[in-house]
Amino acid sequence: MLFQIKQLLLHYREIHTETLVSSSHLRRWKEVNKLFPCETSDVLHCESVDECLQPFRLSVSTLQSVSTRLKKDMIRGLGKHTHHRAPVKMLPTFVRATPDGTEKGDFLALDLGGTNFRVLHVRILEDEQRVVKMDSQICAIPQEIMLGHGEKLFDHIAACLAEFLDSHELKGQTLPLGFTFSFPCEQLDIDKSVLIRWTKGFNCSGVEGEDVVRLLREAIHRRGDYDIGSVAMVNDTVGTMMSCGYRDQSCEIGMIIGTGTNACYMEEMRNVKRVEGEDGRMCINTEWGGFGDDGSLRDIQTDFDLVVDKTSLNPGIHTYEKMISGMYLGEIARLVLVKLTEDKLLFDGQVSDALQTPGRFETRFISEIEDTGLENTQRILTELDLNWSLGDVRLVWLVCDTISTRSAQLCAAALATIANRIRNNRGLDHLKTTVGVDGTVFKKHPNFSQQLQATVRLLAPRCDITFLVSEDGSGKGAAMVTAVAQRLALQPVVFEKLLLEAWGPFDLLVALW
Ligand code: BGC
Repeated sequence: MLFQIKQLLLHYREIHTETLVSSSHLRRWKEVNKLFPCETSDVLHCESVDECLQPFRLSVSTLQSVSTRLKKDMIRGLGKHTHHRAPVKMLPTFVRATPDGTEKGDFLALDLGGTNFRVLHVRILEDEQRVVKMDSQICAIPQEIMLGHGEKLFDHIAACLAEFLDSHELKGQTLPLGFTFSFPCEQLDIDKSVLIRWTKGFNCSGVEGEDVVRLLREAIHRRGDYDIGSVAMVNDTVGTMMSCGYRDQSCEIGMIIGTGTNACYMEEMRNVKRVEGEDGRMCINTEWGGFGDDGSLRDIQTDFDLVVDKTSLNPGIHTYEKMISGMYLGEIARLVLVKLTEDKLLFDGQVSDALQTPGRFETRFISEIEDTGLENTQRILTELDLNWSLGDVRLVWLVCDTISTRSAQLCAAALATIANRIRNNRGLDHLKTTVGVDGTVFKKHPNFSQQLQATVRLLAPRCDITFLVSEDGSGKGAAMVTAVAQRLALQPVVFEKLLLEAWGPFDLLVALW
């Protein structure tokens, strides 16, 4: 028995030296072994289990190759003539720098991107250089609205906003509004943003190809009981970068790993071929979730990924996101668990109805299980009507760990591609930069951030990256972008130019729309 446990551990270590693993990983696996003592029968199944999990394990050279492919796709996305067919959209945001600390005032922020919609009242305190959330309210978005007509969605948003303004006595004030809309949009102006396509479980008709700000204003006018001031549209990655940029002025990448995944970064204007001008920089919303939509990642997609894609609301769209983000990780894990059970490697071969139900194995279960909380795992498996043994508990941990590790590594490959690109763009031998990060997967998973950072260090060895976790980034960031836009609207363009010349475009922190 002891020999078999040793064999399994050695086997696990072997797999992971060949692929990639941080020392904390092995330590955690040992903890799991202590918590869930091995049963002889599990160890004997080791090979069959491994056959199922092996396709999720990516070697360093595979991750390097993924990064090389993304690098090419980013160039295609930026190109004038290649953009329209590029899977990685590389959308110009017209944010040309980050905040300068003189922004101030009260703002409303709307944040739509997941299953909830948030309204915030934000105050920017210039003296203290702080962005303060005064109040906020969460409104759930029922599934029938997420999948219904766009008009209903915007009526719902306008109603939530009305309720918030009422309860906080803000209705008479007409505050400027920052709208974080976390879907791929072609930004035409600060307040004009056309939805390219829905992602993350949304599929409202009549919105794709339309200006989202117009739809919001129309919904508010339909009510007729209040009005809003100027509006600034922003992607959540940009909001995150901007809010972190107020705290750390070297923050020039924004990354989200939550329900969906994406990143933005400051690109040299000379490379942004779809926008006039050669000088300075512009924030690019990469929409890296779409990487692989042309089939370029087929070699690393597992059979489980293909099922997740096929059964999703948007087959063939956002391939990379479907291997990384919170909307899909739980479902991948569920499919693997079903397969292992059907192969009689788990739960005595008995699949429960719950485990067979799509969406029942939530992504948050992965974080809870990997937290090595014995009680958590037992509770979750019991809730799923599964008859588990201690060996099952350990194998479920291994499945979750394998899937979350791949997610962190893929994310790292994409982040390393951006960091390497920034370094090359600037002709630097070494890049020191900060990434503003948000999203439940990054924040709640016990090991995700460590795994991601370890892999980025391997793939971008000449980049020294600091991670700044954003609190309420998309809400506060939207207010920040609005504040900046408002400040700039009051300044003549000449002044803007003078500032750029005096401070250098890269020290200026603000969005010039
Ligand atoms: C969207 C992005 C967004 C990301 C994170 C993706 O599905 O396409 O615009 O930034 O999710 O919320």
